[in-house]
Formats: sequence, structure tokens, C-alpha cells
Amino acid sequence: MEQLVTSNLKLGIIAGGQLGKMLIQEASKWNLITYVLDQDENCPANSLATHFVKGSNTDFASVYQFGKMVDLLTFELENVNIEALKQLKAEGLNIVPDPDILELIQDKGRQKEFFLKHGIPTAPFATCTNLDEIHQKIASDAIAFPFVQKLRTGGYDGRGVAVIQHEDDLYKLLDGASLIENKISILKEIAVIAARNQNSEVKCYPAVEMVFDPAANLVDKLICPSTITAEQSEKAIHLASKLIDLLNMQGLLAIEFFVDENGDVIVNEMAPRPHNSGHHTIEGAITSQFEQHLRAIFNLPLGSTKLKLPSAMINLLGAEGYEGPVAYEGLTESMAIEGVKIHLYGKQITRPFRKMGHITVLSTSVESALQKAEKVKQLIKVKSWDKQ
Ligand SMILES: Nc1ncnc2c1ncn2[C@@H]1O[C@H](COP(=O)(O)OP(=O)(O)OP(=O)(O)O)[C@@H](O)[C@H]1O
Ligand SMILES: [Mg+2]
Repeated sequence: MEQLVTSNLKLGIIAGGQLGKMLIQEASKWNLITYVLDQDENCPANSLATHFVKGSNTDFASVYQFGKMVDLLTFELENVNIEALKQLKAEGLNIVPDPDILELIQDKGRQKEFFLKHGIPTAPFATCTNLDEIHQKIASDAIAFPFVQKLRTGGYDGRGVAVIQHEDDLYKLLDGASLIENKISILKEIAVIAARNQNSEVKCYPAVEMVFDPAANLVDKLICPSTITAEQSEKAIHLASKLIDLLNMQGLLAIEFFVDENGDVIVNEMAPRPHNSGHHTIEGAITSQFEQHLRAIFNLPLGSTKLKLPSAMINLLGAEGYEGPVAYEGLTESMAIEGVKIHLYGKQITRPFRKMGHITVLSTSVESALQKAEKVKQLIKVKSWDKQ
């Protein structure tokens, strides 16, 4: 008998951000019963979840009690109370991916040690317990400029990362247990999402490339397929498959890579969940990353990761200078452009650079998708009613 649809199987998702919302959009196609834990009643996933539970993802009691309500538990962010997950696992709850894998990935230092142990190419690094130790290691030349400091835990979206080019940048150092990495001369940044089920079936999506805007000095678009060579692509996919096998994990593993100035592909970091770099798969691939996550965690056959069409993706970020109830401009004009797919996450309050939605543009080539995405970027503004 099919367990998935005919039973009352309850899927618990820790946190109800946009990734949780998009996961539920797929889950509803299979008529799954979804439970979401989030401390914010206005979180993106609340309007879609079958049951919303208010509580913090970092609080032992909230996570533990939530786990007791469901049959299968997953998460859409790394910052989850691990002790609660371990307790639930010990009491027999099926948690996917496994809490031990999440615990390893929560700590950027342990991630790097894992790469080193298994011969996975990555930037050379050292670990430091506090600021004093970093200063001492600089004084004794154990750490050389330029370097990148990363807090071992708690960082996301670049917060928790300091790029130190020379002595004058030392004021940027962050306080806390840190990873110190050699600064890599990055040619390209790419990402690969791998999926694996309990039967050890593995499938990877084609690499996605972050497109750097030199004028704005930031990554503002993602393209798929990427412009890397076939060998670089094979290398990245090989490393992604190897990592997900080494972790013996079930679910999605998103791996970020650098292609350095010599053309070498090296691993930056990984995340055991659906990922921002896979949004284009919703419309651009035969199986979306969210459906793939469900297939992997329910131990179903993995879906095809082939692309339907080339695509470009932009995040809709809150405009600078606006904070308050969100108001969008330019959506209608953007929709008139062929291949433009708009996703609004339903966050009511905008702040500068907050991820409010994303847009995927499908086209016959990455170049034309990029041109259309640039047009959309000019048209759409994420502002606030409070301040026009
Ligand atoms: N060793 C390095 N050398 C050069 N640049 C680096 C290095 N490590 C990180 N960076 C730059 O800093 C960015 C953020 O680093 P990283 O991905 O490790 O942090 P993060 O906070 O997890 O970011 P996100 O959540 O956006 O993925 C990278 O995308 C890259 O541009
Ligand atoms: Mg990163």
C-alpha cells in the first residue's frame, strides 16, 4: 500500500521562510499534511502549511514538542537546536537529513576538517578560538594577508564573513571562534545541488553560476547552465556526488565552489537543504529542487535533473532607504516579458537587502535570459508604502 498519500503522514518542517514555503508548494501536490515551526506568525510558509506551530527553531522545548507532532521531520535552515533533534532521534523519530550531518555542517570549522580528511580540495585554513589568537597568529606570521575570516557558527548571507586584505582592514575582524582561510583569487563562483535517497541513489543538478556585477560590486544574478568548461563541470559534479555519499545522507546537499585563477574547482561550503542557488529548477528543470528534496527524504526514486531551458535568476531584494510594509513596483511590466516568472515570498515588511522574492527568466539562451533579467531588475523596485 502506498504510504505517502493514502495515510495521514505528517511532514514537519523547521522554519517557515521562503524555502519552507516553496517546499510546501510541492508537498501539496502529493497532498501531504505539513506542519511548520516558526516564531513569526507572518512567515512566508504560514499561509500554505496545513498546521502552523509558533516557536523558535533554536529553542530545545519548541523543537522537541514540534517533533512529537509529526511522523517525518526536516528543516529549511541550518540554525536548529541540535540537542532537541538528537533527543527526538533517540526516541525514534525519522529526521532527514540526519542531525549528526546538520551538526557537522553548522560548524564551518568541522566542515573544513571533513574536507581535509577526505581529500576534498578547499582553501587552506586555520582555526582560532578568539580575536586574541588571530592577532597572535598574525604577529607570528602563522596567518598572512590577505585572508578571509569566518565565524564558525551562526553566519549566513555573508554575515559572519570578513575579508581582510591588509593590516588596515583588521578593524573588520569579528569576535568569536573562527575559521581563517587563504583568500582565493576567484574566477567564478558556482554551486551544485546533489540529492540522495536511502537507497543510495544520487542525482546532481547542472552547475549554477553566480554572475558578478562589477558596477555594483556584488553577485546579483545566477545563470544555468554555467559558463564553466565541461571538465570543470564534471569535477564539480563529481565532488558533489562524492560529498553526499561520504556524508551518507538523505535529502539535498547544496555545495558552493570557487573556480580559482588556475581554473581549479575547490569547495567553499555546503548546506544540507534546498538552496537559493536552485530556485531556477522550479521552472527550469524537469524536477524542482523542492520536489527532489521530498523524493529524497521519502526514499522515492529521484527525479530527472535535466534542464528544460536556460535561465537567469535574480533575487528581489528590499531597496536601500526603505523599511516598512512592502510595496512592489514594476511587476506588471515585467510579466509582459516572455519567460519571466515572479515569486513573491509574502514577507510583509521590507528592509534594505532583505530577500523578498525572486524572479526566474527562462529563454532560449543564457545570454538572452540575462538581458531580460537585467530589464526586469531595472523595472522592479521593492519599496515601502511608508516612504515613497
Ligand atoms: N577563501 C575565500 N577567498 C575569497 N573569497 C571568499 C573566500 N571565502 C568566502 N569568500 C567570499 O565570501 C562569500 C561568502 O562566503 P561564504 O559563502 O563562506 O559565507 P556565507 O555567510 O555562508 O554566505 P552565504 O550564506 O551567502 O552562502 C563567498 O561567496 C565569496 O565571495
Ligand atoms: Mg556561501
